[in-house]
Amino acid sequence: MTALQKLYEGKAKILYATADPTVLLACYKDDATAFNAQKRGTIAGKGRINCTMAAHLFRKLEAAGVPTHFVNCPGPDEMLVRALTIVPLEVIVRNIAAGSLCKQTGLALGTELNPPLVEFCYKNDDFGDPLVTEGRIYAMKLATPEQVREIETLTRRINDLLREFFQQCGITLVDFKIEFGIDAGGRIVLGDEISPDTCRLWDAQESDPVARVLDKDRFRQDLGNVEGAYQRVLDKVLAN
Ligand SMILES: Nc1ncnc2c1ncn2[C@@H]1O[C@H](COP(=O)(O)OP(=O)(O)O)[C@@H](O)[C@H]1O
Ligand SMILES: [Mg+2]
Repeated sequence: MTALQKLYEGKAKILYATADPTVLLACYKDDATAFNAQKRGTIAGKGRINCTMAAHLFRKLEAAGVPTHFVNCPGPDEMLVRALTIVPLEVIVRNIAAGSLCKQTGLALGTELNPPLVEFCYKNDDFGDPLVTEGRIYAMKLATPEQVREIETLTRRINDLLREFFQQCGITLVDFKIEFGIDAGGRIVLGDEISPDTCRLWDAQESDPVARVLDKDRFRQDLGNVEGAYQRVLDKVLAN
């Protein structure tokens, strides 16, 4: 299916219309941003790595009964997806304290969170993607209470599945961000991507706090060998 007009260029992907109005083409970019796009760079091969990894995980989740937008990959950095109306919430799952949670709460890096935290941020760069309460979600009409319940149930199921899968890969799933959308039938569907850009992934065999990092924190914190870490995650994921 060939790409028609460009619909939207985001920080990590470009969306194109296709001949089928229910299907979009997502082209994954090598561009990397952090801290609400204040830090910019490129990670060579990231588009291909993230697209391939996300496709593999979407297939696994679909097989386990999670509805996703994934259709297929016509190229290594290209994914056909079902067009969704994205719910403007970044849904964050935390199994282990890291990142902004530690900064905002004083919880020590590495603290186990049992049960895992499911948090919602308003997806809007102008406001810096702020954490929102359920009350604010309803006041802003971002989603209905039924949709929030459904999103949380799906999210916890996705976390259980991904955690177990990454464990098999020798990787600890520390936290991740996902997005949901609504399809033509009103169904809540997992959209966007799952990749080292959107997950914190630690090498389970490695205790060194820098060496264990296999995700975008290597770019955020200038830890070096970003490409190598992304490729290692992909290799482990594809082997499982
Ligand atoms: N299935 C889908 N249908 C419509 N939009 C989608 C779908 N999956 C992801 N998107 C949206 O595609 C856009 C491009 O992705 P990305 O480059 O990550 O953007 P951003 O810079 O907003 O994070 C995002 O706004 C994301 O919400
Ligand atoms: Mg994005």
